[in-house]
Amino acid sequence: MTVSASVGESAGPAASGEPLLKLRGISKHFGAVQALYQVDLDLPAATVTALCGDNGAGKSCLTKTIAGIYQADEGEIFFEGSQVHIRSPKDSAALGIETVYQDLALADNLDIVQNMFLGRERKGRFFLDEDDMEKAAAETLAGLRVTTVRSIRQPVATLSGGQRQAVAVAKAVMWNSKLVLLDEPTAALGVAQTQMVLELIRRLKDHGLAVMVISHNLNDVFEVADRIAVLRLGRMVAQDNISAFDRETVVDFMTSGGSNRGVAAVGTQAAL
Ligand SMILES: Nc1ncnc2c1ncn2[C@@H]1O[C@H](COP(=O)(O)OP(=O)(O)OP(=O)(O)O)[C@@H](O)[C@H]1O
Ligand SMILES: [Mg+2]
Repeated sequence: MTVSASVGESAGPAASGEPLLKLRGISKHFGAVQALYQVDLDLPAATVTALCGDNGAGKSCLTKTIAGIYQADEGEIFFEGSQVHIRSPKDSAALGIETVYQDLALADNLDIVQNMFLGRERKGRFFLDEDDMEKAAAETLAGLRVTTVRSIRQPVATLSGGQRQAVAVAKAVMWNSKLVLLDEPTAALGVAQTQMVLELIRRLKDHGLAVMVISHNLNDVFEVADRIAVLRLGRMVAQDNISAFDRETVVDFMTSGGSNRGVAAVGTQAAL
C-alpha cells in the first residue's frame, strides 16, 4: 500500500487508543554497521515522546527512517492504524509528518517567509502570492506565540539560535502536520532560548500533535516529555510513561541497557 495524501478524516488514533505512529521490528544497516535492530516505537497523538540514547545509539537514523530519508531493511510502519510505506520525504509529508533535523535545514540567505515556503511556494495567477505567504507565515508564528522575531522578512542568518529553531518548528507545523520529529532542537541553545523551544513543543502537543523529541539534556526531557523511549546501540531498551523513570534509570538504560533501580517495571522491552 502506498501512502495517501488525504489523511485525517477518521475518528483518529486517540478515539481508538491506537498510537498515531507505530513502528514494529524496524532494522537498518549501513554496510557492516547495524544502526537499528528490530526497533518498536509508539508515538501517540497529543503526547511528547522523548527519544533518548547515547551518541551513535541510532536516534537520528530512526528519525530519518520515519521521515523517509532512509528505508528500513525490515519492519513495519503503521500510521493511524494502517500500514504505510514511507519511501521518501514526500511520502512522510503527505501523511502529516514533519521533521526538524539535527543539522538544521534552513537557508541562511533567505528570509523567514521564504524559508517557511521553501519548495512549496504558493502560486498566484502569474507569480508567487507573496501577500498570502507572508500572512500564513505570520499567522503560524503568532499561533505558536513566537513573538520575538522583529520582521518575518528578516534573513534567517540574522536570527538568534532560538529564533532559528522557532522558525524551523513553525515551518514544520504550517503544513497541517500530525507528527513533528525534532532532532536535538535545544542542543545549541541558551537557557531562555531553550525555554522558548520547550514551550513551543508543549503548544504542539496542546494542538493535538504527536511530538518526538531527541535530547541529551535530561532536564529538558523531564520538563517536556510524557513518555520516554531509550535506544542503546540500535536497540530499544525501554519505553514507557515518564512516571516509570527518573534521571538515574534513564542514564542506566542509556549506558547499560537495563536498570535495577527502584522505579518499577519500566517499558515493554526492558528485559532486552
Ligand atoms: N549514512 C550513514 N552511513 C553509515 N553509517 C551511518 C549512517 N548514518 C548513521 N550511521 C551509523 O549508525 C549509527 C547510529 O547513528 P545515528 O546518527 O543515528 O546516532 P544518534 O543516536 O543520532 O547519535 P548522536 O547523539 O551522536 O546524534 C552510528 O554508528 C552511525 O555511525
Ligand atoms: Mg543524532
